[in-house]
Amino acid sequence: MHKVTLIPGDGIGPEITKAVVKVVEAAGARIEWETVEAGACVMEEYGTPLPENVLDSIKRNKICLKGPITTPIGSGFRSVNVALRKELNLYANLRPAKTFKGIDTRYEDIDITVVRENTEDLYAGVEHMVGRHAAESIKIITSEASTKIAKFAFEYAKKEGKKKVTAVHKANIMKLSDGLFLECARQVAKDYSGIKFDEIIVDNACMQLVKYPKQFDILLCPNLYGDIISDLCAGLVGGLGVVPGANIGDDIAIFEAVHGSAPDIAGKNLANPTAIILSAAGMLKYLGEVEKGRKIIEAVEETFRKGRCVTTDLGGKATTEEFTESLCEKLVRL
Ligand code: NAI
Repeated sequence: MHKVTLIPGDGIGPEITKAVVKVVEAAGARIEWETVEAGACVMEEYGTPLPENVLDSIKRNKICLKGPITTPIGSGFRSVNVALRKELNLYANLRPAKTFKGIDTRYEDIDITVVRENTEDLYAGVEHMVGRHAAESIKIITSEASTKIAKFAFEYAKKEGKKKVTAVHKANIMKLSDGLFLECARQVAKDYSGIKFDEIIVDNACMQLVKYPKQFDILLCPNLYGDIISDLCAGLVGGLGVVPGANIGDDIAIFEAVHGSAPDIAGKNLANPTAIILSAAGMLKYLGEVEKGRKIIEAVEETFRKGRCVTTDLGGKATTEEFTESLCEKLVRL
């Protein structure tokens, strides 16, 4: 039995976490969920969107499955998602984008993993007003974090049998910050002679991804470019509803979908829970429950291949609950 912290989140979070709990159970995984709340819903009670009991639970269990949490735009509290990653030093954000047969996409057989540095860059949250009419956000890049994420990308490539790591940067303009990130990647690459290394400027990377995505395998990115590029990659494989993610540190990991709280469809039973379900499959693999994780992926693949019961974001008519039920039925048979 594994004890896992569960954060339902807000927006579509409660609907998709309810779905994932059912799916994990149908796969036969023995998980004891410890549910804790974070975000706007706890602000009044605790005076913070990230109360101590949430951090304590994750530190104790060392593993968490998390629904999306809304971040107010412009003013209000800082992102709980970013705070969790920084506070727990979850330095690697892993976002694999892979096509499924049966989902209508521009290209077939895409398999790109974005490895995103998760703790610094413009997301360090160091920003201030300079007088009333100017604002400064500071981009922080250190050789320690850059080397660590580059090593993570190459180790992941080795473990998963990937062939190539491409560092994404803008070192032609940000010569010091992106230059340092790139130099660290180059140094780390020297220790992995079996894996090809190359580099690409971020704007060209976007164009190449849209026109010739199959040239890419692992994209190693600083925080901001990784965030944007992983949504682009999600678009290549059917949208945000199908791309899982993980935030990984030395001994703690939080698994969550790439997408946000989707306020436009929240509470309508329309959300596609696939992304968080695939995130849970990754979590089971991380916990050593490889077979259970594989079963979930197989059931998802079968559902998309048959194409009859998919949610509206993928052109189907199924509700979140109908899709989940159909997946659970398959899992019980597998
Ligand atoms: P979003 O990812 O929530 O939504 C973008 C578009 O994709 C919307 O049209 C939405 O309906 C659709 N979409 C997203 N997930 C879907 C799903 N599972 N099924 C079907 N359609 C789906 O991005 P947005 O609107 O920029 O952000 C909303 C809020 O979420 C913001 O407050 C943002 O800060 C937060 N956010 C939280 C994240 C997290 O908790 N890790 C990650 C990204 C955003």
